Amino acid sequence: MGSGLPIFLLITGLQVLVIGAVTDSSDLSALNAVKSNWKNTPPSWIGSDPCGGGWEGIGCTGSRITYIILTGMGLSGTLTGDIGDFPELQTLDLSQNKGLTGILPSTIVNLKKLENLFLVDCSFNGPIPDGIGSLTRLVSLSIASNNFNGPIPPSIGKMSNLSLLDLTDNKLSGTIPVSDGTSPGLDLLLNARHFHLGKNQLTGGIPPNLFRSNMKLLHVLFDSNQLNGSFPSTLELVQTLETSRQELINRAHPFQRHQPPKSFRAVLV
Ligand SMILES: *[C@@H]1O[C@H](CO)[C@@H](O)[C@H](O)[C@H]1NC(C)=O
Ligand SMILES: *[C@@H]1O[C@H](CO)[C@@H](O)[C@H](O)[C@H]1NC(C)=O
Repeated sequence: MGSGLPIFLLITGLQVLVIGAVTDSSDLSALNAVKSNWKNTPPSWIGSDPCGGGWEGIGCTGSRITYIILTGMGLSGTLTGDIGDFPELQTLDLSQNKGLTGILPSTIVNLKKLENLFLVDCSFNGPIPDGIGSLTRLVSLSIASNNFNGPIPPSIGKMSNLSLLDLTDNKLSGTIPVSDGTSPGLDLLLNARHFHLGKNQLTGGIPPNLFRSNMKLLHVLFDSNQLNGSFPSTLELVQTLETSRQELINRAHPFQRHQPPKSFRAVLV
């Protein structure tokens, strides 16, 4: 009986110690640096323990920040290079925050464990970082409805697990990159289900070697660009295909070469 109280105190003391130090200190300083460039962060973002203190939109595994999901929060501001300082981050979703502007820092390529990058419907601009292809674990890359410009980085072709590539509604220019032996390209994305490249300023033809028989594509949406020609017949190689939106191309050059394959439905939206 007599020793009950000290043990109780000891256990309580340990719990306080543990709770007081849940968040990894380098993740905490990275998040504080990111936060300092934003307005309208969630009201729960107080104190110094995002993992233990229930910061809205922050998910942790143990002491490490693994999710940052802040859709439609009314955030405004810019992203600094600190966004690359979350080595365990798996999901970054800042979608539907129109007040987020500026470039996507090239340090984003340091997020080696990132699987999902969603920056849909914000106001980011500038180029997609060249080295983005080193995010080889990425499954979803969805940056639709921003003001990104410049070329589609060929390195995206190195993301062998990529399923969703959605670059719709930006100001991307240049041609659709395909591999050529030295440089990667989108034709290497054998696990991709979705190529959504519509509403950009892409030029040139649709490269015949973009499509391969061992692809898993379901949707290929290239409408509202400045692409010339029509879909190459190699598109028929892709047996999984469901939809290809090609309104402008079709309007200018109706499918002349072949009947579309059975599994192919052209949706003219
Ligand atoms: C791709 O996904 C598989 C299955 O989830 C996984 O085992 C593999 O490590 C991933 N590849 C990369 C480069 O992350
Ligand atoms: C498409 O345009 C490029 C130049 O931008 C040209 O080299 C190519 O021949 C054109 N292809 C077709 C099918 O018109």
